[in-house]
Amino acid sequence: MSSSRTILLIIIFCIFSCGYIPNIHVVASDSSKGFIHCLAKKSIPPWLIHTRSSSSYTSILKSSIRNPKFLNTTASTTPLCIVSVKRASHIQAAVVCGRRHRVRVRARSGGHDYEGLSYRAEDRRERFAVVDLSGMRSVRVDAAGGTAWVQSGATLGELYHAIWSSAPRLGFPAGVCPTVGVGGHFSGGGFGMLQRKYGLAVDHVVNATLVDARGQLLNRGAMGEDLFWAIRGGGGGSFGIVVSWHIELVPVPPTVTVFDVVRTPEHGAVDLLTKWQEIAPRMPDDIMVRVIAEPRRVTFEAMYLGTCDELLPLMRRHFPDLAMTSADCHEMRWIESIPYIHLGSNATVADILNRTSISRINTKNRSDYVRRPIPNTIWKKIFTALQKVTTFGEFQMYIDPYGGKIGSIHESATPFPHREGVLYNMQYITYWNGGANGTAALEWSGELYKFMEPYVSRSPREAYANYRDLDLGRNKVVDGVSSYDAGKVWGQRYFRHNFERLAAVKAMVDPDDYFRNEQSIPPLFK
Ligand code: FDA
Repeated sequence: MSSSRTILLIIIFCIFSCGYIPNIHVVASDSSKGFIHCLAKKSIPPWLIHTRSSSSYTSILKSSIRNPKFLNTTASTTPLCIVSVKRASHIQAAVVCGRRHRVRVRARSGGHDYEGLSYRAEDRRERFAVVDLSGMRSVRVDAAGGTAWVQSGATLGELYHAIWSSAPRLGFPAGVCPTVGVGGHFSGGGFGMLQRKYGLAVDHVVNATLVDARGQLLNRGAMGEDLFWAIRGGGGGSFGIVVSWHIELVPVPPTVTVFDVVRTPEHGAVDLLTKWQEIAPRMPDDIMVRVIAEPRRVTFEAMYLGTCDELLPLMRRHFPDLAMTSADCHEMRWIESIPYIHLGSNATVADILNRTSISRINTKNRSDYVRRPIPNTIWKKIFTALQKVTTFGEFQMYIDPYGGKIGSIHESATPFPHREGVLYNMQYITYWNGGANGTAALEWSGELYKFMEPYVSRSPREAYANYRDLDLGRNKVVDGVSSYDAGKVWGQRYFRHNFERLAAVKAMVDPDDYFRNEQSIPPLFK
């Protein structure tokens, strides 16, 4: 018997006898052809495998790319192939074949990653395949039990719609944008207009199924509590591919009230915003008043879990300076608030099922957490700085108040640590059209971020993992795995003290660092 055949038999024996998938470094073949051949042998039909030479490759690759700066870039590399999985066994096959043939896999659910890490790699030598979950998007609602199983490839819009169709008095506290994918969103925490009442999406996950680095399909019981903890907010792409999530739904009233009050900087917006910082995080949990700050206007956008009649006295008592009146109120069902808030007052509930409803535009996103109110004089300087944006693009600052349920959960209960004492999260979004404006936009966005440093959280300066920002740092590979020390630079900002536990879990479940990207959790060996 030839020596290569002997090695192969030993590997097969290992797989069947101890469930062990060998480290990618010790396996014989490294060809992408071998990977694709392996997928075919594992019964993945050829029409689900899109190689670079397939006519379908480009359209499928681009289908969920929201940021055009990643559509045609020479600074990164695209996948060897995209596997449009339809069932968990396809994901298992992709992982097993990937390890065998030295091809990493990156999961893509909704493709909304701000740095495009679900479909591109910065290192041009990286050989990877995309496991596209958009074909795995079922939502099974148990209305009587108040729970649902949702597959990772569903969008938030599809999830909300399915809940409403089966149980109109139930909802779910996740993000505002209906096109965001459940897989990446839940992996990083997930917050939206119900966050003050109910916390994050991951605060309501009670079970999950995941394909791990050995290609095993595990539920909560089989994966163990450490891994189950890690996947609820420790960031996508580090621990395995989550196939589906079992979630507890939350009650919503028959009527919610939405309002937008718009003020300009010339007409008191900056003073209102200064006051808002102390008021919004301390209001009753049933109300969320967030702020969208733009160079020439500030929108106070709110959702209240109740009627306008109930809301008005509450606003008069807590935030009289906003001078909100019944004319500002828009009463609707909770499900109608989803299109209304994100897509505008003309959008319908059916629109939240459209996976491509949001436009493609170049953006650079960054985030901060604020634990002490920013002085009025500084807000005035910020608005002066914002005026420069119009020369190259646009800018929005989404300011989401915390407090309520989100702040009452202990910071180590899930990997998402930005809880007690946080007043609000700020997301800075700089937009531009066309490549020429990109340089000016990026430079300006960097300057604003630097300017904000003294006024936001420190040691570490916190950031939200779902608002991925590679400027916070990238992994460095040392001895074949991502270095813990290099990872700490960005990791402690997303996860604070939880970063160390995440890295220890990574060492336990994926010691070879198979699931690796520019900001995946590095293994910490003790
Ligand atoms: P995508 O598919 O790109 O995945 C993101 C990361 O997770 C990648 O690393 C990927 O490999 C990994 N991943 C994907 N599926 C996985 C799976 N099944 N198992 C394991 N890893 C997986 N956030 C928020 O909290 N509230 C909000 O309101 C919004 N709103 C919003 C609007 C818009 C327009 C954008 C572009 C983004 C947001 N976000 C947000 C941020 C959003 O939560 C974040 O980008 C999510 O990671 C997106 O998840 P997707 O599945 O769409 O991304």
